Amino acid sequence: MKKLLAIICFVFFITACSVDSEIKPILKKDDVLEIIPQGWPQPSYNFNNNPLTIEGFTLGRTLFYDPILSADNAISCGSCHQQFAAFSHSGHDVSHGIDGLLGTRNAPAIQNINWNSSFMHDGGILNIEVMPLAPITNPVEMNENMPHLISKLSVSAKYKQLFKEAFGDEQINSQRIFKAITQFMGTLYSYNSKYDRVKSGKENFTSTEATGYELFTQKCVSCHTEPLFTDHSFRNIGLKVNDLYNDSGRAHITGNPSDKFKFKTPSLRNVEKTGPYMHDGRFTSLNQCLDHYVFGINNSNTLDPLLTNGIFLTNQNKSDILVFLKTLTDNQFLTDKRFSDPN
Ligand code: HEC
Ligand code: HEC
Repeated sequence: MKKLLAIICFVFFITACSVDSEIKPILKKDDVLEIIPQGWPQPSYNFNNNPLTIEGFTLGRTLFYDPILSADNAISCGSCHQQFAAFSHSGHDVSHGIDGLLGTRNAPAIQNINWNSSFMHDGGILNIEVMPLAPITNPVEMNENMPHLISKLSVSAKYKQLFKEAFGDEQINSQRIFKAITQFMGTLYSYNSKYDRVKSGKENFTSTEATGYELFTQKCVSCHTEPLFTDHSFRNIGLKVNDLYNDSGRAHITGNPSDKFKFKTPSLRNVEKTGPYMHDGRFTSLNQCLDHYVFGINNSNTLDPLLTNGIFLTNQNKSDILVFLKTLTDNQFLTDKRFSDPN
């Protein structure tokens, strides 16, 4: 009897150990690196003044997924930016934040954002390192303030330890919070879709994908420019103004009437997963997006000149382009364990 008990205890001990080591996210030094895929332009942001470390990344990742960043400790960055949706908010037209409050814009994907020259649909934020301040303090997103957030983090033994590992001592301040989150957001690289593997000669397009790509390069690349699938410009693509929000877009920032209803060209990487689409999430399918370019263009004096007559596409053209767009899905990125919720 005693012997049996000893065996049971031993087995329990072994399994307890192995479970524990499995759930601990273990990252090695080379797991977090600054990457510039071959043939890509230089990014707008580099980590020269925010040296990338595994500890900094880990702190940033922990903060990104921690609802402690919101006033009611219920909403994290990851609530609205979900990995399986390329860090957009799956199924939500406009953002859905604290106390169920709704914003006025769709949560964009977060991928390859080191190349962004500005952030938000209207480009209202210029620096990636101050980017987290906007959602943290937005009354309908997280509704927190920095002094209060810092005081909440400062009583946590876990965070004291994480800040010490990342920055050498336990001090917690806004700058360190932002730099750490930037190490996480700024290394969310997506560069391993089928499209990328075709470009680097490792795979081939099917004939439908190739036809779709050909059409895409004729009709779409002037704005959705390769390899990032955005030229980072602001354009009015003739979407009917949504009376509910009356969002003037870029003009909201510049005050310039010639910028009215212009919005940032989004990257189309992982676009299969980032719906609903457009700055206010008005379209639920990619088909609707394509139909907009064919039939839906609304004329106005800031309409992009490229779209004055819409884009002519047959039904066959549309379905070929859709097949091509799916080659931009990067499953490695969407399931990469380094980017998942560590808790
Ligand atoms: C309640 C939902 C919500 C939460 C929570 C939230 N975001 Fe966002 N995020 C949005 C929306 C909506 C936008 C677009 C806002 C706009 O254009 O005005 C956005 C935009 C962004 C962008 C700009 C991407 C680009 O390419 O322009 C980044 C980066 C970002 N958020 C990071 C974060 C971080 C970091 C946190 C946590 C500190 C966070 N977000 C929390 C909804 C949210
Ligand atoms: C004149 C520039 C321009 C051209 C040409 C253009 N687009 Fe766009 N596209 C944009 C802009 C700007 C937006 C964002 C509009 C908004 O948010 O209100 C957008 C949005 C989209 C979206 C929604 C993405 C998302 O995440 O919300 C898709 C899909 C799309 N475009 C596909 C295409 C395809 C396919 C073509 C070619 C048939 C094309 N676009 C041609 C500028 C352009």
